[in-house]
Amino acid sequence: MEFNRQKLELALEERRNYTNIFSSIHIFDTVSSTNTTAWELLKQGIKPGFAVIATTQTSGRGQWGRQWNSPKGGLYLSAALNSHLEVNHGYQLTLASAWGIAQELQDCGIFVEIKWPNDLVLDGYKLGGILTETKVKKALITQAVIGVGINWENPTPETGINLKTWQTNQNNSSLNNSSFVSLEELAAKIIQGIEFGIRCLEQEGVDILLSRYVRLLVNIGEKVYVNNNPGTIIGVNPSGSLHVRMESSNSESVTTPYIDLQPGTISLGYRKTS
Ligand code: BTN
Repeated sequence: MEFNRQKLELALEERRNYTNIFSSIHIFDTVSSTNTTAWELLKQGIKPGFAVIATTQTSGRGQWGRQWNSPKGGLYLSAALNSHLEVNHGYQLTLASAWGIAQELQDCGIFVEIKWPNDLVLDGYKLGGILTETKVKKALITQAVIGVGINWENPTPETGINLKTWQTNQNNSSLNNSSFVSLEELAAKIIQGIEFGIRCLEQEGVDILLSRYVRLLVNIGEKVYVNNNPGTIIGVNPSGSLHVRMESSNSESVTTPYIDLQPGTISLGYRKTS
């Protein structure tokens, strides 16, 4: 079940209707983390604009310092690229990648949505996640590694779902004739999705990207509590923060009705937990 380079190249070739940001792909059997390997390759002088894929990871990293369980059968992929974003705009790379991947999968009839800020969700369960790491010089991001984990045929926790099982359970006619037959085909689509998202950010700008991102966001309209006060999620701003309209103003005290919550300061649940 090792990752097959030829199959991946074939899949990339078939889907190559775009100019490629990622010109080389480095495939490994086992690494500690594909993000770490990508940083090592950059240090060795390999130019940004490549992807790293591994069959398994021994110390896969998730958001907020969590571990990302990485048994065989999952997709573990990191993309290394140059960036010129301001340091406080680094989250845009995650938002762009999440949107690009979700949009590409939707175009195949797989209705993937986004759970703020970085989760890919299918039928209310977690299909995958994104961890972006950046190198900063003088308040500017110079290089970034975008790490993507997708559940293909690996076991998942109860809030998760894997794509291969989901596809098997679908009525085939609802899948736009393009369900994935292999991990390599999925990898090609994910690379294309990251590229699509980054290109949208670079060429069309963050406002257009955000307008597209929020259309796929499951959390819009969701009620949240901030210091026990109720509010409603109404959007995401260019630093990746959640934009919330609070309901706490009353006739005696004037409070600002809108607040922004940074990634990591609030945890949103999954619609389905079993
Ligand atoms: C999350 O917490 O949802 C983000 C998970 C990101 C996991 C991927 S797997 C490939 C890359 N290498 C890592 O160590 N992490 C990311």
